[in-house]
Amino acid sequence: MAIYTEEVADYIWRNGEIIPWAEATIHVNAVGHASVAGIFEGIKAYWNEEQEELYVFRLEEHLERFLDSIRMVRYGFEYTRQDLGGAVLELLKANEYRRDVYIRPYIFQKGLVRELLQAQPGKATELIIDSWPFSSYRDTNKALQVCVSSWTRISDNVMPPRLKCFSNYHNGRLAAMDAVVAGYDWPIMLDDRGKVTEGPGACLLLVRKGRVIAPPVTSAILESVTRETIFTLLEEVLKIPFEQREVDRTELYVADEIFFVGTGWEIMPVASVDRLPVGSGKTGPITLGIVEAYRKVVTGQDERHPEWRTPVWESER
Ligand SMILES: Cc1ncc(COP(=O)(O)O)c(C=O)c1O
Repeated sequence: MAIYTEEVADYIWRNGEIIPWAEATIHVNAVGHASVAGIFEGIKAYWNEEQEELYVFRLEEHLERFLDSIRMVRYGFEYTRQDLGGAVLELLKANEYRRDVYIRPYIFQKGLVRELLQAQPGKATELIIDSWPFSSYRDTNKALQVCVSSWTRISDNVMPPRLKCFSNYHNGRLAAMDAVVAGYDWPIMLDDRGKVTEGPGACLLLVRKGRVIAPPVTSAILESVTRETIFTLLEEVLKIPFEQREVDRTELYVADEIFFVGTGWEIMPVASVDRLPVGSGKTGPITLGIVEAYRKVVTGQDERHPEWRTPVWESER
């Protein structure tokens, strides 16, 4: 899926400094340790050609979630949300981006691999902000063939999905691997009670009888920024009712439309679940409406909610 590119940036932000991307190295010994409790965010910035502006979408909300996750793993941390926001803008300017960009802040504890299981609250950390160009998937004709995974989604008292920790993604990767080996594009995961949760890197919404239904934040999902954005668009732009409630597996088989939502994936329609076509098997009208409304708001073509878009180049004009 064309979400990520192989391109790398000229510069990366590391512990308060903008440095050449190739110079941001660590010792091989730190790798295992770094990944166990590492926290990250995924943010996108969209280029508006007409306005000659690059908008970072919902920067505040993403940084708030980043800080919430850091709080939960009790890392020593000296930066405020404002500091991080400034650092993101500084990095985007250094790289002279005038195109769509993916931004990935991440943090991990400094130290040797032998310290793997020592929590050491407050210990020094490495804080990085990386970025790279991306192309939107946005081909709604290529809806996904998905399966319900036999892997159970991690739960709040095992590895909290609310916490955006690199290690959580092992659970999703197992499910994604199984799905691909079995000939599907992607899995949907159930929680330990058999309720629908999300996909490995995106939340899931479905449509039944004209209503959008979303598993609640207590259904072992990441508290998705895109999901919240879509709720607002449903209310204010599309005037479509929605509800948050637990979702059974069999509701996936009788849904009229299903789609994944997330910063990386944006809105990704589902064509079938366990080989049963979703609705007519074609991307449905509500999904298409959301794709369009989302595209307009992230790029600033729809000027509603200016607080969602942080302009990068405005201060340079
Ligand atoms: C596991 C998981 N769920 C949901 C999402 C969607 O979250 P957001 O809309 O904030 O990008 C992501 C993407 O970051 C994710 O990794």
